[in-house]
Amino acid sequence: MIHPIETQETHVGPSLLRRLAAAWPKRATIRTDMGGVLNPGDYDPGLLDYPLHLMPFAEHPRFVAASEEQRLRVNTLAWIAYNERVIAAEEYVANPTFEKLGHGVFPGVDRFEVKEAVQQSHIDEVWHTYMHMMAMQRTREARQVEAEHGFAQPVTNRRLYALADTMSEQWQQDLLYLMWTAVGEISINAFLDLLAGDKSIQPMHALVARLHARDEAAHGPVLAELMKEIYPKLDRKQQDFFVRHLPEAITAFGAEDYQLWPQVLRVAGIAKVDEIIADSRSQEDGEVMMNDFGTVRRLLRELDIEDKVEYDFGPAKDGAR
Ligand SMILES: [Fe+2]
Ligand SMILES: [Fe+2]
Repeated sequence: MIHPIETQETHVGPSLLRRLAAAWPKRATIRTDMGGVLNPGDYDPGLLDYPLHLMPFAEHPRFVAASEEQRLRVNTLAWIAYNERVIAAEEYVANPTFEKLGHGVFPGVDRFEVKEAVQQSHIDEVWHTYMHMMAMQRTREARQVEAEHGFAQPVTNRRLYALADTMSEQWQQDLLYLMWTAVGEISINAFLDLLAGDKSIQPMHALVARLHARDEAAHGPVLAELMKEIYPKLDRKQQDFFVRHLPEAITAFGAEDYQLWPQVLRVAGIAKVDEIIADSRSQEDGEVMMNDFGTVRRLLRELDIEDKVEYDFGPAKDGAR
């Protein structure tokens, strides 16, 4: 006898989202690691704030010729800017999207386990902003960086705002925010891992990146599951829009920020900034900070749109299925 589908489904067991939601009370760093974030230990004056290899001009002769004090100031500001980029992505892109997800702006977010995972992720993000805010403040105190420099909004956000401004319909803008958030949440660990295991920088900086990455290890699957709920319920026009603009979200997330770097260099009093920046941009991969988007590729494969999205992910690392 063939069982009705409903009966079979009750035997499948908890969905991935339900399992992720059930693990949250034990997994969330806001519950388990507040002590480490608030009392991270002493600053080690012998260590950097930011990995040198992530400064695209680190070996430029004009930069190398600057005083040690100026170069260290650039390094400290680069770390502050990295935190600001993370915070801006959360405050202006991810969190507004989690609100939209919670408010029923997108289809497919009506089951309780879906809503629960959205709220948990939203709570985590607000906590991450706090973690990075504290990390920046400690750095400002230890390195005596007094002024709030008011760095530009990061490149990822600027590209979203610019594209959203060209769209006349609300659903187009909402979908762009969802795309930027999905790519961000699914890829952010590649971005955080740039620092999480680095031994050349302050251990407390690496710790913040590591703790953040632990939460994001759950957010990636949450967003992938959410997209599997939402994408099939979009209408044809919306699906086409998603496929067409997703490459811009991916490129924006991995981009090197050439509005920010000149600002950082000038604040530190480095000479010939325009020359340094022009040379950095013309290097191979000079425009790319991070290009590890295998997780996005996997999601597109699961949504069955990998062939439609015009982005060159490079050779498949995880093996084509
Ligand atoms: Fe986060
Ligand atoms: Fe996240």
